[in-house]
Amino acid sequence: MNDDRPRLAGRRIVVGVTGSIATYKAVTLVRLLQQSGATVDVAMTRAATRFVTALTFESLTQRPAVTDLMALDADRRIAHVELAEAADAVVVAPATANAIAEMAVGLVRNPVTAIACAGRGRVVVAPAMDAGMWTHPATERNVETLRGFGYLVIEPGFGALASGLTGAGRLAEPATIVEAMERLFARSGDLEGLRIVVSAGGTREPLDPVRFIGNRSSGKMGVAIAEAARDRGASVTLIAGALSVASPGGVTVVEAPTAASMREAVLRSAPGADIVVMAAAVSDFAPSRASQRKIKRDGAPLRIDLVPNPDIIAEVAEMPAEVRPFLIGFAAETNDMEANATGKLRDKGLDLIVANEIGGPFDAIGSDENKVAVFGREGNLTDWPMLPKRQVAERLWDLIADRYRGQESSTDPSAPRGASRRS
Ligand code: CTP
Repeated sequence: MNDDRPRLAGRRIVVGVTGSIATYKAVTLVRLLQQSGATVDVAMTRAATRFVTALTFESLTQRPAVTDLMALDADRRIAHVELAEAADAVVVAPATANAIAEMAVGLVRNPVTAIACAGRGRVVVAPAMDAGMWTHPATERNVETLRGFGYLVIEPGFGALASGLTGAGRLAEPATIVEAMERLFARSGDLEGLRIVVSAGGTREPLDPVRFIGNRSSGKMGVAIAEAARDRGASVTLIAGALSVASPGGVTVVEAPTAASMREAVLRSAPGADIVVMAAAVSDFAPSRASQRKIKRDGAPLRIDLVPNPDIIAEVAEMPAEVRPFLIGFAAETNDMEANATGKLRDKGLDLIVANEIGGPFDAIGSDENKVAVFGREGNLTDWPMLPKRQVAERLWDLIADRYRGQESSTDPSAPRGASRRS
């Protein structure tokens, strides 16, 4: 089930390099694309060749770099047209303000914009420029035009720029660009048609208008799960508790800062969903009452009465079979992970539970990586190493999709959805 082949194996990718102080980063990009299994060709503008020579790229790719719009390939065919037709994707990185403007109006004055224009595959654009150029209305309009063509624009980062200024305009890191390319080709569409609800982040139970009881959950794992499902074609609702990361585009986001609001949002969306993943860290208790006014310090000890919150996932599990979605819970445990996780799976009536250890030498909370084990009713289903959360999310979807479809195919097609689920 785990596909450990490089993600871009068998893909042909053209890296279109334009002239920027960030041109040198295209060298790393080419290396990383190759490491991910892609066959890489390089096209360059004349300005790009003033920053890094074609020889550098030719040595890496062992293929000729196209630097001349009029160049013919070894078979006397027009090199940029041949490349454009063969490529699964063209990634213009770095893309200058000028290259973006040319692509937006369809000017093909160099091999890079010519290949982007003539290609049949996906076009990915990674801008790099000074902050003033990036935020200029002309560039903003041109970038919107490219998005309208269906190009994937990888937002530049914020930081120190070559001009000495600080702002947005730094070329995205090569690893980020490669991840975006991998996502582009990731088993695209295998969750097409599925309605998926993911909860993420911690809940905050108010004590007064400014204070709350909360937890350290960052929401990174849940957000990665939502993003991966989106990229694989699902229609995704993210029920967002407190997140320390931006909520993703292309999904319906429902803000649910407290356990009560999360319960309401989950119970409202679950009956229409095929799959629900409860990655949120829901507070088990809430103050019995929240003060309307800020609680004042008066030197006396303060007692707070906490009352248990309802178990949201257990309520979803109890839904009538015809509306009950396939249900995945999470278990963050400091000890006895397997026993605790499988106990929760059983007691809450879940289909799968994703367990991870917290509080040890490695703390998954807030980290960009995670090591998880997934348990079904028959026991541990996985032996996965520590992985970036996005990769954990991809593997989870491989597993969940497999299980979900297995269960669907064992259902009488005339039976209502979920009828065979409860044992
Ligand atoms: N969960 C929920 N509602 C709650 C508490 C937890 O839906 N009030 C969900 C979580 O989103 C997660 C799973 O239940 O998917 C397990 O959460 P966890 O906090 O580990 O479980 P608890 O039952 O609260 O157990 P513990 O006593 O270990 O906190």
